[in-house]
Amino acid sequence: MNLIQAAELLGIEIPHYCYHPGLSVVGNCRMCLVEVERAPKLQIACNTKVAEGMVVHTESPRVKNVQAAVLEFLLINHPIDCPICDQAGECKLQDYYMDYDRKPSRFPLGKKNKKGKALDIGSDIMLDQERCILCARCTRFFDEVTHTSELAIFERGDHCVVDTYPGRKVNNRYACNVVDICPVGALTEKDFRFRMRVWYLHRTPSVCGLCARGCAIDIDHHRGRIYRYKPRYNPHVNQWWICDEGRHSFVALQGEHRLTQPLVQSGERFAVESWEAALARATQKIRRCVQERGPNAVGALISAQASNEEIFALKRFFARTIGSVNVGAMSFSSADASPADTFLISADKNPNTRGLSALGLRLDGLGRLACAADQGELKLLVALRADPARALGQAEFMRVLGRLEDLILLDVAPSQTAHFATQLLPIAAYPEMDGSFTNCAGRVQRFHRAFDPPGQARPALEVIGKLEKMLDGVESDYSASAVFADLARAESAFHGLSLQDLGRFGAQLNGLAA
Ligand code: SF4
Ligand code: SF4
Ligand code: FES
Repeated sequence: MNLIQAAELLGIEIPHYCYHPGLSVVGNCRMCLVEVERAPKLQIACNTKVAEGMVVHTESPRVKNVQAAVLEFLLINHPIDCPICDQAGECKLQDYYMDYDRKPSRFPLGKKNKKGKALDIGSDIMLDQERCILCARCTRFFDEVTHTSELAIFERGDHCVVDTYPGRKVNNRYACNVVDICPVGALTEKDFRFRMRVWYLHRTPSVCGLCARGCAIDIDHHRGRIYRYKPRYNPHVNQWWICDEGRHSFVALQGEHRLTQPLVQSGERFAVESWEAALARATQKIRRCVQERGPNAVGALISAQASNEEIFALKRFFARTIGSVNVGAMSFSSADASPADTFLISADKNPNTRGLSALGLRLDGLGRLACAADQGELKLLVALRADPARALGQAEFMRVLGRLEDLILLDVAPSQTAHFATQLLPIAAYPEMDGSFTNCAGRVQRFHRAFDPPGQARPALEVIGKLEKMLDGVESDYSASAVFADLARAESAFHGLSLQDLGRFGAQLNGLAA
């Protein structure tokens, strides 16, 4: 490892701009200079490998002096933008100035070089050339990770600028990662610009739910609202990166379209009712259906959008409380969904298809339930995060599931299936609950509740627990960690795992190598 990595392991900071562990070393910022005993000159820590017996000074007067000099040099032409810069609060130029320089400028304000500001360079990115410190992280990302090479450094000396090639724009599916790795406010996201000061944001570790890769992310939020997703390092899944589609997927999880109150079908419309009334109604329907037609008249359809805990809890509820064998699963991605690539993006737009199969559910559940409905066996269906009408088309849905007498939907927003539901129960989206997904490679990763669900929406585990209690009087612990503990005891693929011990990087299902 290099000296920056070695020092970090010991809790010692060596300031750096151009070095990034996911990119090649170029050694152009000189911020990481350190004193290595017996070396005649200061050495750049990013390009110096540790060696046996090496003695390194990171705080000697020579090092301190050069750190301040490098910062003064970088700041000569830097604009006084901090009060209006989106990077303020997480800017390495601000942070290092305070930690390693703190000297007033000797360069007259009026003599600073003028360069391009607020340039739309394509994708979701704005470029401010005056703020750029020419570390070349962004150009290396496009050269080495996406291999699209849209950005380059042009001109010479203090006229150097980062820019796109003439006539070209940034255009690739991972472009916004350069906003994360730009150490200053030169590259900002159009979507996030001027919307929130970063020091108001709270950060919660999570997992992207937009495709089966399950990239590790941080959710940055304020007062129950998500402002951005940022990639979170996971060496087994996404390293330092996420795709732009996943990055912006939180937009669909919040807004006016969310279900916020339990609804019951009333003629041609839906009427609002309380949770108590909705749960009593659902319980009564299930009980009557079982009494009159037997347990298999009640079925469940679980989608690959559900968490491991939700899948296990609903499956267990149907096995031990209702006694029905009609439990099926579906994993659906529409034909116009974005295609897979060879890097991260999966064609499967469900975060937990692998979890469904690891928990013993076959993905042809919709066909089997449709058959049971067609034969008149299945009368009441409980669907969890599932949209069979979208998967089948509305006409086909009516043909195969039109004989159902009751359809109780647990979902975050009205889907195409909602039109056919007799009850709609609003549940939490994954940023609003605790749980885990199993990604396409069999890695189980944990996500955390960032804030409460909107309105009266509740975690699905809580709803399943209440239904179970009202039906058989048994009260179980339906917290995500308790359900995961039961799941790990019951399902061999999860033996030995616990939600708490999944840690930052998750764990492989049993029998699967990392
Ligand atoms: S735009 Fe940012 S990442 Fe790119 S060279 Fe400039 S400072 Fe570095
Ligand atoms: S690759 Fe998939 S899981 Fe990763 S960020 Fe993109 S959509 Fe999300
Ligand atoms: S981090 Fe070493 S020279 Fe830039």
